[in-house]
Amino acid sequence: MAILKIARMGHPVLRRRADEAPDPTAPGVRKLVMDMIETMRDAEGRGLAAPQVHVPLRVAVFIAPEDPGHEGVTAIVNPALELLSEERVEGWEGCLSVPGLQGVVPRSPKVRYTGVTPDGARIDRTVEGFHAVVAQHEFDHLDGILYPQRMTDMTKLIFESEARRLLAAGEGDGA
Ligand code: NI
Repeated sequence: MAILKIARMGHPVLRRRADEAPDPTAPGVRKLVMDMIETMRDAEGRGLAAPQVHVPLRVAVFIAPEDPGHEGVTAIVNPALELLSEERVEGWEGCLSVPGLQGVVPRSPKVRYTGVTPDGARIDRTVEGFHAVVAQHEFDHLDGILYPQRMTDMTKLIFESEARRLLAAGEGDGA
């Protein structure tokens, strides 16, 4: 396994639509997934999409609490996403490609996603809360979208260090 270099906001690979993986069970996809998981853990992230490691394929890994296998890590290839709520719930997000910042993003509180694992198993999950947010964030990467593009109030794009300062001063909402 290897720790991969993470692309940062501004790199063209983060702006393009990633390609379908022709064979989700190809050895190259499996190796990519293993390296992405190691890279995500090293960077202490909750999710990582292949374009973030300069690979324009529709592959993502993320830590999903409800997932019984893979030590809580979901690896998915060629995912499809369906928003199951008209409602939008705002929450703080960060991204390994936007280091040092966090922002408030409106997301659907409930989604269904499907796809396939590198082992060839079908995934079909209906999830809510944090799991739903992570899926939307990671699958956005596959369409060339970073979370600031989903924000509706840019005054809520702030540095993590300032958020910590607010928290320490007892101000803000704990984010
Ligand atoms: Ni991200």
